Formats: sequence, structure tokens, C-alpha cells
Amino acid sequence: MKELDELVQESIKGFEKQFGSKPDVVAQAPGRINIIGEHTDYAGGLALPAAINRWMICCCSPNTDKTIRIYSEKYKEEYTYKLNLKPIMLNSWHQYVNGVIQVWNDKFFIDKGFTAFLSGNIPSGSGVSSSAALIVSLMNALKKLYKLKLSDLQLVKFSQGVENKYLNLDSGMMDQYASQFSQAGKYLLIDFSKMDHELIEALNDHHSWVVINSNIVRQLNKRAYSQRVRELKSAIKTALSSNLNLELPYYLSSKKISDTPSKLKRLRHFITENDRVLTAVDLIKNNKIEELGKLLNESHQSLRDDFEVSVPEIDFLADKANQFDGCYGARIMGGGFGGSVLCLLDENQFDKFSSFIKYYYKEEYDLDAEVFEVKTVGGAGVVTG
Ligand code: GLA
Repeated sequence: MKELDELVQESIKGFEKQFGSKPDVVAQAPGRINIIGEHTDYAGGLALPAAINRWMICCCSPNTDKTIRIYSEKYKEEYTYKLNLKPIMLNSWHQYVNGVIQVWNDKFFIDKGFTAFLSGNIPSGSGVSSSAALIVSLMNALKKLYKLKLSDLQLVKFSQGVENKYLNLDSGMMDQYASQFSQAGKYLLIDFSKMDHELIEALNDHHSWVVINSNIVRQLNKRAYSQRVRELKSAIKTALSSNLNLELPYYLSSKKISDTPSKLKRLRHFITENDRVLTAVDLIKNNKIEELGKLLNESHQSLRDDFEVSVPEIDFLADKANQFDGCYGARIMGGGFGGSVLCLLDENQFDKFSSFIKYYYKEEYDLDAEVFEVKTVGGAGVVTG
């Protein structure tokens, strides 16, 4: 797998080839895994993500007029337009870039355009936040280019604003937060009710984090995600206003899945998942890998049965992963309805594990799984400029 330096050098060369000069600013933003704490961020809960060694790179230079020129290495496409034009609704990667420009325009006075080259090695649609990293890399680059004064937290909020305001996604802030604030060798325990975090020392080297990309992207995922956001927020509101909150965990624990109305199931997931995040932190601090694996499995069950964001292919992959001797646990990661599975694996097992998963997934669904090992890295920032 390519290291950050190599990606940065390739990007700089790409910029030069495309635009005929060296970029003034180069910024990077990593993708992320989320160890535990899924579907909690937008409701003020807890999560434990970490940035991973997959990055988006943004090389850019200022223009003397209002022209904006952007090239995407992935799509081999250039796109040019004028700053200050009304928001244009475009498909694909243009939307993200356009959203960032609109957010800057809303907040700051910007009178000069820029030229940017976007590249990276984060697989898209695989639950490791390639789109959030794209936005965060562009935000960091433009912050430097326009010499804007804003804190990392503001930058994260603006990045989320791009998704919420311009892409009509109700997503929380976990992806952008992890991309900006992570540190190598640490996990981020984020408390979204306070919008702050604690750095947790990562597990030792006798294990690896592995992502299985199912290559399943359900068309309904955007709508279904928003529906979950609405259901959970409204369930929390009801519980808080009905004095039920103190007894709720007992009430919920006595209910069978089949007798529980869906809103309460969403709430049960939220309550138990936040507990699991705190338990996971304890287990990590005490290096209890086997128990941590079991907790990942519990999180998966809760996301499958109570939050109902899994799909058969993902359940199959999580089950298969657990059948492998050397896998401690596995769970669906990210927004759900497809995407990826995160697995905690014993050291030196990756090659065998990867072949095992690919073989059985192909046999069952005639689909190719992408399996990759990840390492924790530091957060986004300007590399040169
Ligand atoms: C997506 C969203 C995040 C978060 C996760 C679920 O990745 O972008 O904000 O809600 O789903 O935990």
C-alpha cells in the first residue's frame, strides 16, 4: 500500500502535468475506521473512530480571476466554472467540490478562484469515508490558500455543513472529525454531546484491523439513513420528555426484539451502543482483545436487529469472518445498507483471512470482496505550502 509521501509526490506530478506549474498548497485528509459507536454521532452519543492509512490529496494554486478549475484524478475529468455563481446542482464528485465552494462563499468573502487537482487511494462506497476525506482535504487546502482563520472544529463543522446543506445528507460529524483530529497510534473517543474527544492509546501490534468492502451499495441508503436519524432523534425526545428515561434500559431489556416497536429498538441500540463504546475503551486499555472482539459482534447484532441497517451480504461476511480461526470479532461499519465490515484479526493472519473471505463471498453471492488491512495515522492538514 502506498505511503502518504508517495501519494503526495504523485499528486504534485499530476497537478504539473494537468496545469503546467507546481501547486502552491498540498493538503491531505485520511479516511477512517470506526471501532465501535455506530449511528450515535448525530444524536449526541459516543464513537471510537481512528484515521487510517488511506488518503485524499488536494493540490491547489490561486487564480488571478474568479475561475475555478478542478481535476479529479479518479474520474479523469476537469471541471471549470466561475466563483460566485449561484449553487449549481451537479452529479458525482462535482457536488462535493461545489458544496465546499458554496460553504466558503456563505461564510467568507472570497474574490479569487483557484485551480485544484484531487486524487487519493480511499476506496469509495466502502464505509471508510472517502467523500468526507475529499471535503476535508479541500477545506484544509483552501483554508491555507485563502489564509482564513478558523479552528479545526469550525473546519469540521463546515465540512459537515457541505453534506447537510448541499448534498441533502443528514450525516453526523464523526467522519470529518476523525479525519481532522486523529493521531497516529491512537483512537479517538469522541463525545458528540460536548463535541470534544479523548485520545486512547491504540491496541498493541499483535492484532490487525481489517476492512471487508462488500461492494454492495444500496440505492435506498441515503433515504433509509435519514429515516434512522429521524426515528432515533424522535425516540430520544419522547423518552426524555416522558420521564421514562431512568427506567428505559430496564424496560427495554425486558422486551423481546419481536415485541419491541421500531422506535424503541432504535433507542435500545443507541443506549447499548454508547455503553459498548465505554466498555471497549476499558478493554483496549487493558489489552483484552478477545473480549473486544465479542463486543464488536454485539454491536453488529444490535445494528442488525435493533437499528436494522444491515443487509444479508454484510451479515454473511460478518458471520464468515467469525468462522475464521484468528478473527476475534466483526461488525458492520459506517452508515449501513451495504458498505463494509470491520474485523479484528490476530497478527500475521491477513493473507489467509483475505483468501478465505474472498472465496466464500464469491461462492455465495458471485461477488468480489475487497479486503484490506489498515493502520492508524495522524489527521488531516497541509503537507506543503
Ligand atoms: C455515516 C455518517 C456518520 C455516521 C455513520 C454511522 O458514516 O457519515 O456521520 O452517522 O454513518 O455511524
